[in-house]
Amino acid sequence: MKIMIKMTASEIRQEFLDFFKSKAHEIVPSAPIVVKNDPTLMFTNAGMNQFKDYFLGNKKSPYPRVADTQKCLRVSGKHNDLEEVGVDTYHHTMFEMLGNWSFGDYFKKEAIAWSWELLTEVYKIDKERLYVTIFEGDSREGLPKDQEAYDEWKKFISEDRILPGNKKDNFWEMGDTGPCGPCTEIHVDCRDEHERNSVDGRTLVNADHPQVIEIWNNVFIQFNRKKDGSLEQLPAKHVDTGMGFERLVRVLQGKTSNYDTDVFSGTIAATEKITGKKYDASIGDDKQAIAFRVIADHIRAISFTDGQLPSNTGAGYVIRRILRRAVRYYYSYLDYKQPLLHQLVPEIALQFKYVFPELYQQAEFVNRVVREEEESFLRTLDKGLKRIEDLVGDNKAASTVNISGRDVFELYDTYGFPVDLTRLIATENNLVIDEAGFEAEMKKQK
Ligand code: SER
Repeated sequence: MKIMIKMTASEIRQEFLDFFKSKAHEIVPSAPIVVKNDPTLMFTNAGMNQFKDYFLGNKKSPYPRVADTQKCLRVSGKHNDLEEVGVDTYHHTMFEMLGNWSFGDYFKKEAIAWSWELLTEVYKIDKERLYVTIFEGDSREGLPKDQEAYDEWKKFISEDRILPGNKKDNFWEMGDTGPCGPCTEIHVDCRDEHERNSVDGRTLVNADHPQVIEIWNNVFIQFNRKKDGSLEQLPAKHVDTGMGFERLVRVLQGKTSNYDTDVFSGTIAATEKITGKKYDASIGDDKQAIAFRVIADHIRAISFTDGQLPSNTGAGYVIRRILRRAVRYYYSYLDYKQPLLHQLVPEIALQFKYVFPELYQQAEFVNRVVREEEESFLRTLDKGLKRIEDLVGDNKAASTVNISGRDVFELYDTYGFPVDLTRLIATENNLVIDEAGFEAEMKKQK
């Protein structure tokens, strides 16, 4: 790949902010990851969440243009990537979203031109590796093709690289309700020359190819999705963009995995040192390699929760689930039987000291809470795993639902196994769990 400016992750982040500052954007801090004042949302899942009221016209922004890096978590609700995390090399629970926003100020022309300028002139990504998608329209919603975005892109990129996309990929919505609009995505083809010559990159866009990935989404917010499902035109038109920071770093550092960049390498090295095991990045679906990635990912989600304690309900339970998932990975696949995650907190706090200083300030507290959580789950994990082993043995011959709702409930109630952890272990053993049966048991208990 021709991109050869070896910037560090910190430099890449700073370039983004400096670029938009030079285009008259105010640089603002990330909002907390746990959302306190929006009943439709538990965690910040996109950079635009904190600006929702500006889009809806309920409040006026003090600045017409802003940019930031936002801590996001996609583990529940409309945007949920948990199952892919660690298994692949480019989805995360917690990630940074670099974004620029216009509140009723500039629109498609500037947003598209600046995305192109930043990627190709500042970051110097090879133009031949870029593809863009635009909304093709949707007759059922009465929405036309985004011709304006198409025409703007035509100024920079050949038309055979502007691909139409459907409502699923090219109409972005915050949740079941809220601000939304057509979007244009930028994808980059990181495959080697040989592969690029044999298969046309156009055919791999939005096809889950690990080396042909979306890096930036530019949303043109024009509507509010209402509770009854209808779209209401907003009083003004806005821009909401989001670029996956970890993916961008990977592209610019010429890596094939986000985990091979300096965003994660410190955590992986620390985990190697603690466990005495080696991370082999080349073994994609090896359980030990997955465990390293899961830990490197999950510890960030656990650490950046702005004081939210793990608990049995709501946001606290999501944190607990992520933490327990990570514990099970190091316990089973790195053969490490003591609390591990909390030992990584100082490393992460230091790494992000100047980006998200709140973690650095609370590092000791976070360290203690995480250690206590780990200790508590480690007290029942082994017995729970043995119980699952028995269940697997008993069910090997069965053909449909193999782990009953009652057993899933017992694992949850007695051994502290969140249902998604039991589901994960069941899947690893080619079994399925009775989800409805578990829900019924839960109801009974309540
Ligand atoms: N809201 C859009 C997204 O999350 C762009 O920021 O992809």
